[in-house]
Amino acid sequence: MFELIRRDGLARIGKLTAGGRTVETPALLPVINPKILTVTPKELKEEFGFDALITNSYIIRNSPELRERALSEGLHGMLGYDGVVMTDSGTFQSYMYGEVGVTNEEMVTFQRDIGSDIGTVLDVFTEPHWTEERTAKAVEETLGRTAVAADLKGDMMLNGVVQGSVFPGLRENCARAMRGMDVDVHPIGGVVPLMEQYRYAELVGVIIASKKGMDPSRPVHLFGAGHPMLLAFATLMGCDLFDSASYAKFARDDRFMFIDGTFRMADMKSLDCMCPACSGKTLEGVRAMGKRERERLIARHNLYQIKAELALIKRYILEGRLWELAEMRCRAHPALLSGLRELGKHSEFLERTEPLSRGLAMFYTGPETRGRPAFHRFRKRLATRYVPSGKSAVFFDDVGKPHGRIYAEEFEKCRRAGAVPVVVSDLGPVPAELDEIYPVAQSVFPEIQDMETRSDNIESTLRFVDGHGLKMLEYEDLPIGDLDVDADAMKAVAVSRYQFGIEATDALFDGDLELVKSRKTGKIRNVVCGGEHVLSMRAGDGLYTLRPEGARRILEKVPGESMRVMVTADAAKYVMDGRNVFCGFVLSADPEIRPMEEVIVIDPDGKFVATGRAQLTADEMACFKRGVAVRVRKGSGGDEE
Ligand code: GUN
Ligand code: ZN
Repeated sequence: MFELIRRDGLARIGKLTAGGRTVETPALLPVINPKILTVTPKELKEEFGFDALITNSYIIRNSPELRERALSEGLHGMLGYDGVVMTDSGTFQSYMYGEVGVTNEEMVTFQRDIGSDIGTVLDVFTEPHWTEERTAKAVEETLGRTAVAADLKGDMMLNGVVQGSVFPGLRENCARAMRGMDVDVHPIGGVVPLMEQYRYAELVGVIIASKKGMDPSRPVHLFGAGHPMLLAFATLMGCDLFDSASYAKFARDDRFMFIDGTFRMADMKSLDCMCPACSGKTLEGVRAMGKRERERLIARHNLYQIKAELALIKRYILEGRLWELAEMRCRAHPALLSGLRELGKHSEFLERTEPLSRGLAMFYTGPETRGRPAFHRFRKRLATRYVPSGKSAVFFDDVGKPHGRIYAEEFEKCRRAGAVPVVVSDLGPVPAELDEIYPVAQSVFPEIQDMETRSDNIESTLRFVDGHGLKMLEYEDLPIGDLDVDADAMKAVAVSRYQFGIEATDALFDGDLELVKSRKTGKIRNVVCGGEHVLSMRAGDGLYTLRPEGARRILEKVPGESMRVMVTADAAKYVMDGRNVFCGFVLSADPEIRPMEEVIVIDPDGKFVATGRAQLTADEMACFKRGVAVRVRKGSGGDEE
């Protein structure tokens, strides 16, 4: 069972329950070699707080003594560990050393019999240098074995490993084929050689293709990823679980893991680490230690680095800033930076889970930030949902926010002359009406622009002018106009189009418009049309909250699934009283819904039930069995507050 606690785009904080034990994700599972215990499982849990670990059932099965003990005492008893134990199947050994001489059936049965909480199929490790044809055959074989394993698993949870090497189509199809199988966790396999060779751009392609095909309600494990340097970036792409043998392997040959790389003790100039393992120690002191003692210290140091990074990742997800952390981390190595740049090519896919807005401002950390899905969405909605109020436009430099206050006089002159005022910001052209919405007002850029921003701004401005058929005017050339325009009314409509689309806006703004403004700030608060309060504008992100009267208008005039989440008749009764919509009760939902968007909850007859904010996409609402799908607004149901 995997429950979503919090999400930011593809990144998530979750709760994975296996064998009655629970682990919070993102989590890293230290690899335990039952023959060599540098750090004991008990220490891993009690000292470091690792609530899950992974060990190899193939090694256990091949050792007569361990095999006997595992079968009689059970895996948890043998390891002296009461957290979640995941087992691997011997696939990695077959990749390293060739034939393993066991069958998938034998390995799955053995894992079940020793009480593994999450067992693994004996999948076929697809190697990056293989041809597509050979890879396709291996994927077929893996899928066949996964179906067999699902029949044998009993109460054990099962890892359905996604294979397909560097072929996006094979990866996606493999993941999609497993949607219909009874598996519980999706490791992405065959990626160790890519990581060892620092081929992070290809790794990005592999992860994204796999995510595209996968059932989104299952946790994703990046097999063999354990360097702290990679964790934030992989979490950003929707990986929930990791495993590390490196913490112990590196320790064996005197290598320290740090957030910015791995360093040999022989090359280090100092030990500037404050972790509990290193604290109070000097490099000379560590060098002088005996082999065993030093190995243990370095292993513990490596585990503390991993722990610290996981804690930081969690905080950044909660703050809605994981992008910024990943962008910082990807600067630790040029190969990771390639990965980040590659991810920018997938903004269309990432946009589907990108929240409508975040609590904190977006920080520009470098040209790669331009590949963020928030940029992509802004551009796309500007192209498809913005309707200019005139035939010409005047462009202004971005000298501060909010644009409307800085250029109050100039904007007014434009409007009176029938021209659209547009500020060329670091996000590209921003029409005056949209100057307060996320991420325009809620983003921070360096004052000194980079080349990419400059050339991108020219390009996107030309595209804007072209796309909307506008004539570019110089401010100095504007005639003195006498048009009587209501800038607030224009803003009210433009924001609605941006957020809900043109058709829904026509329905919402039908009738005489009256704007209720804040007495203190003068900002729009309520939109009243034809005497009905249809929308309320939020101060934080400059976007709207949908009111029941507005929702009813959309249901009446906008056909199809648009903005709707249909729930069962039983659930509708509770939701009407202000209870949230839980996943199990969703019958269907508009596939265009994005997290944090305003949605309309309807009953099976299509009747209005409530308004609220989506927490998930339609696919997620359909796949998750538990958790909140829509946070319902109290009093938005049958009875008005
Ligand atoms: N460990 C590292 N990579 C893999 C993989 O592709 N499959 C399995 N089963 N284990 C792994
Ligand atoms: Zn340390």
